[in-house]
Amino acid sequence: MKSIQVGLLGVGTVGSGVFSVLQRNQSEIVRRAGRGIEIAMVADLDTARAQAVVGPAVKVVSDARAVIANPDIDIVIELIGGYGIAKQLVLEAIEAGKHVVTANKALLAVHGSEIFAAASRKGVMVAFEAAVAGGIPIIKSLREGLSANRIQWIAGIINGTTNFILSEMRDKGLDFDVVLKQAQALGYAEADPTFDIEGVDAAHKAALMSAMAFGVPVQFDKAYVEGITQLGAQDIKYAEQLGYRIKLLGITKKTEKGIELRVHPTLVPNKRLIANVEGAMNAVMVHGDAVGTTLYYGKGAGSEPTASAVIADLIDIARLHNADPAQRVPHLAFQPDAMSNAPVLSMGEVVTSYYLRLKVADEAGVLANVTSILAKAGISIDAVLQREADEVGGEGATQTDLIILTHDCVEAKMNEALSQMQVLKTVLGTIVRIRKEELA
Ligand code: HSE
Repeated sequence: MKSIQVGLLGVGTVGSGVFSVLQRNQSEIVRRAGRGIEIAMVADLDTARAQAVVGPAVKVVSDARAVIANPDIDIVIELIGGYGIAKQLVLEAIEAGKHVVTANKALLAVHGSEIFAAASRKGVMVAFEAAVAGGIPIIKSLREGLSANRIQWIAGIINGTTNFILSEMRDKGLDFDVVLKQAQALGYAEADPTFDIEGVDAAHKAALMSAMAFGVPVQFDKAYVEGITQLGAQDIKYAEQLGYRIKLLGITKKTEKGIELRVHPTLVPNKRLIANVEGAMNAVMVHGDAVGTTLYYGKGAGSEPTASAVIADLIDIARLHNADPAQRVPHLAFQPDAMSNAPVLSMGEVVTSYYLRLKVADEAGVLANVTSILAKAGISIDAVLQREADEVGGEGATQTDLIILTHDCVEAKMNEALSQMQVLKTVLGTIVRIRKEELA
């Protein structure tokens, strides 16, 4: 059978990986797909560089629309990124009846509903394994492997850049800016690294997983997003002393009231496997009612790990493109007419536990005042750590750090308690609050 013909838009880090893995593993891929998969045409603004990557046998153009217009092309891979021209090109490819493979989490998190609806109308597939956690087959796991379950929660380290930064800060005591530059040089970071460090990239991925786990629309716009830029090195140290690591987690949970969808720095007990995921590695925990807790670990970025996911999608399409569209696996795991309208909860409605650090005057009654506010709010304390003033501020210091871990409570209650504690005369600086998840 003739090889399926693929057009590639964007020959950057991932595009090069797709080309070389397809070449290297073609015979194994044919055994799996039942036919060859051939990159027949490539579009990149830097045609000379792209031609050098794909060799003289592949047609290289600068105009992506020439690839979409080519009637011989069955599948278009979009590796341009962003919401701009990439959105136009994906919609045009769908309109032209091409299947699409993309690694573009930003595009799908923001415009997924429109794109999947267009694809369903045209009877084509939009595959996006590479969009979440790079080489880890988490989309396939959620959509197929776990399809017997009522999924209850997902918690993942789904941004390699921030995990790399947190690991290096903790291990080597390096400054945030130094480590961010390293992550950029290593090719983990987004073109705009604020998407990584402010938690936006993780929220894109969490919104996609949430939709597939709970059969709700992709709702990135309703996600709570907090990055790692405000995280202090001393909190990483105190967390460690209390038996926790701080990770930037993407969390989505189904509760009786609705769906939690949030990204923020999180204390995780250091005995959990996920707490020990270091460097740019990704890991996703999924808890289903039948299977229990599962954990998926691997490289979340990089040329060949991401190419691994892109090519898995190509193989799926090569196998299924002639199938009746109604028999294919739905884009978001649930049948489009069976979606739920469970609301995404505001952060004030979320239930979680907390790490609090208060800079306090080292004098009588401070702890009593703070704990009485928490008690009145019905917030139960799990642990307290108070450092000797000398240890924190040096000989003769009159202030110290008071660290409190709480049990679960509704965030609105914690907000209220925090505003009362903040105005105590003995509380000397802005209180640090970091959420904590036991992930038991
Ligand atoms: N910037 C992303 C990360 C790349 O650091 O994980 C993969 O999506």
